[in-house]
Amino acid sequence: MADESRKWVLMVTAQTPTNIAVIKYWGKRDEKLILPVNDSISVTLDPAHLCTTTTVSVSPTFDQDRMWLNGEEISISGGRFQSCLREIRSRATDVDDKEKGIKITKKDWENLHVHISSYNNFPTAAGLASSAAGFACLVFALGKLMNVKEDYSQLSAIARQGSGSACRSLYGGFVKWIMGKDEKGTDSLAVQVADEKHWDELVIVIAVVSSRQKETSSTTGMRDTVETSLLLQHRAKEIVPKRILKMEEAIKNRDFASFAQLTCTDSNQFHADLCFRIISLVEKWNKAEGTPQVAYTFDAGPNAVLIARNRKTAALLVQKLLFCFPPNSDADLNSFVLGDKSILKDAG
Ligand code: ADP
Ligand code: DP6
Ligand code: CO
Repeated sequence: MADESRKWVLMVTAQTPTNIAVIKYWGKRDEKLILPVNDSISVTLDPAHLCTTTTVSVSPTFDQDRMWLNGEEISISGGRFQSCLREIRSRATDVDDKEKGIKITKKDWENLHVHISSYNNFPTAAGLASSAAGFACLVFALGKLMNVKEDYSQLSAIARQGSGSACRSLYGGFVKWIMGKDEKGTDSLAVQVADEKHWDELVIVIAVVSSRQKETSSTTGMRDTVETSLLLQHRAKEIVPKRILKMEEAIKNRDFASFAQLTCTDSNQFHADLCFRIISLVEKWNKAEGTPQVAYTFDAGPNAVLIARNRKTAALLVQKLLFCFPPNSDADLNSFVLGDKSILKDAG
């Protein structure tokens, strides 16, 4: 890097679509490395619709790594951003841009800083997998900029450390995130099950009902579930492995009946997330009080019957439920709370 070259900027822009899980990832066995408790399968959307566009640039005039998301500077000191930056940097190779007359050696990358500017053309942190498109795009763009020669599966294992679902956005079509066995996470990566042309009759329609930021991030939601739920262990160990095999078959055979049945069933179980969250709420509360305040019981369906020890507790319970599941949010429990008021009323 000659002295007069200090003014140069090298830039790469990438665009990455989001993905929607049909067999869901929910629960981590390692929070830091983001290792899941089960395999998952998703469909990557057409980049023309919901996608992230990220520009990464490098210049000797930059004195620190910085990032702007949707026009506002955000902190990237957190572990997830740092992991992605570190992993990509450590794989950087020589860059020789003859057109611009820029040469960067592997060694230079250790001291060069990047500026990242990213834009989501859909609501961020609202349950439409912005973290998936966002981290996949970031890792892909940085990899291009730093001339990283890893294949997509290797890149997916890096994107995974930004956000689990991100590893599946490196590929188009149908993608499986293999949970892996290695506790270092080297084999927890994404592979393509079928490409985007394989089943191009399928149309995905997304109704953006609420663009509000989620009350609970995916990360926090699944952490609470792992801490409190035996059901989750059962799901991960017994149910999902069978479902993954069936789903791969359904995709291979373009068998929509099975595909739809599996997708809906998995989602319903996942939406029992509401029950996990109720269990978690009740257990935490009971633990904090030292003596149980509320009992819960579930019948076959996801509806919880909650029994409060007295009227005062019942009133508090309703308050807590409404706080955790605000009306008209994506975790709306309104009908439940109002519908069962009589039970709560009688609980004293
Ligand atoms: P979502 O349902 O949108 O995936 P999450 O809670 O899982 O919500 O993730 C939201 C987080 O993902 C944001 O707070 C931010 O840290 C990260 N994120 C979102 N968009 C981007 C992006 N374009 N580039 C990098 N990170 C992003
Ligand atoms: C419900 O990948 O957003 O969309 O790994 O903590 O960043 P972190 O969580 P995230 O969780 C996605 C959960 C899900 C299901 C799925 O995409 O498989
Ligand atoms: Co997310």
